[in-house]
Amino acid sequence: MRVAVVGTGYVGLVTGTCFAETGNKVVCVDIDQTKVDKLAAGQITIYEPGLEKLFLRNIKEERLRFTTDLASVVDEVEMIFLALPTPPGAGGAADLKYVLGVAEELGKLLSSYKLIVNKSTVPVGTADKVRAAIAKNYKGEFDVVSNPEFLREGVAVDDFMKPDRVVIGRNSVRARNLMSELYAPFVRQGNPVLLMDERSSELTKYAANSFLAMKISFMNEIAQLCERMGADVDMVRRGIGSDERIGKRFLFSGIGYGGSCFPKDVQALIKSADAADYDFKILKAVEAVNAKQKHHLVEKIKTHYQGDLRGKQFALWGLAFKPNTDDIREAPALVIIDELLKEGASVTAYDPEAMSAVHAQLGTKITFAQSQYQALEGADALLIATEWSEFRTPDFEHIGRALTTKVIFDGRNLFEVAKLQSMGYQYISIGRPQ
Ligand SMILES: NC(=O)c1ccc[n+]([C@@H]2O[C@H](COP(=O)([O-])OP(=O)(O)OC[C@H]3O[C@@H](n4cnc5c(N)ncnc54)[C@H](O)[C@@H]3O)[C@@H](O)[C@H]2O)c1
Repeated sequence: MRVAVVGTGYVGLVTGTCFAETGNKVVCVDIDQTKVDKLAAGQITIYEPGLEKLFLRNIKEERLRFTTDLASVVDEVEMIFLALPTPPGAGGAADLKYVLGVAEELGKLLSSYKLIVNKSTVPVGTADKVRAAIAKNYKGEFDVVSNPEFLREGVAVDDFMKPDRVVIGRNSVRARNLMSELYAPFVRQGNPVLLMDERSSELTKYAANSFLAMKISFMNEIAQLCERMGADVDMVRRGIGSDERIGKRFLFSGIGYGGSCFPKDVQALIKSADAADYDFKILKAVEAVNAKQKHHLVEKIKTHYQGDLRGKQFALWGLAFKPNTDDIREAPALVIIDELLKEGASVTAYDPEAMSAVHAQLGTKITFAQSQYQALEGADALLIATEWSEFRTPDFEHIGRALTTKVIFDGRNLFEVAKLQSMGYQYISIGRPQ
């Protein structure tokens, strides 16, 4: 099939590449000329495990190409995917200006039937708005379907190639048939394709992310209780996770959720609920708990140093909002850095993939190290903000030699408390006895 993907960021590039990998002819469109030039030259623009190999293979096989010129691709494709940003707008509701802007542009460009597929995360009712924006200028036949994306950065290729489910909100048989044909190679093992009305499909995405955010905030509150009551959140997590109704995954406490999705999607669903005259109490609490948890590690650091961080030097391992990505949007590490700098401390950071993104944002406010061990040289303590695999079994002797004092503040509970204590560390983590 011939497919266009408009918006070539984390979702668009993975979507376009994976559709090309299953034999489709894909053209990815973006307004960012620098990004398109790089991609067209075979340089990948995001770090996503496994993506580069597929990206290069499909460019070579001429199934994947990149352009800034939407007008030039519309006639040659059957389906147009929108993978555009939906950032928080005024008051936190999803800003639809990118999605509706492109929809209006498409209305001026269409001259025959096209299926417009919305992959961006959008509030209920957006498919209607997209339809109306196109229909302003185009009176011919077209369909709009909602096809929310559930990929997780860091494992996006696997998630896309073998999705737990594909959700399709559609209003026509023609749209359903095209979508079923396109997705057939991805669901060969029987993973469900859930066909539904478009409003339910749009809401499904927000409900999914909000539910997952709720699990994290719940466990962060349990961790707060553990700290006050002398319990161990790791034990409680295992204790509840073995109940099949609860499940083992997504029960880790830490320094709050971040990234480009959970914070904005929780906020947007709260706003959508408000607009529908419904007070979504649980989600408001989820958001408030998360905002507080992002400061929790710094509170512990301040307590440890009796409130005076002036002149202290910290080594920070991890900047990305989670491992296996270079994405730093809403990363808890950035909140930690900001607070430490305000308190008069200095930070030397290391992250395997996210340092250039942070450098672009913070410049020389912090120092960047070439390795996780170089970051430690002369530091008063080590802080851990992202659970990259390479941080999980470090050389503790090396850490002990490099730090001025053997102190670790761990926002991701990577190590055994007893083991660290037996090696002479003051080890401060989340929700566990010190
Ligand atoms: N990142 C994720 O993990 C993830 C997962 C599921 C769903 N989503 C949703 O998918 C959507 C896209 O997210 P993302 O993380 O890929 O965003 P992104 O910011 O990485 O990418 C968006 C791209 O759209 C481009 N763009 C903006 N305006 C454009 C226009 N008029 N024409 C063409 N291109 C344009 C930008 O230049 C950018 O490259 C959002 O709604 C997001 O909530 C994201």
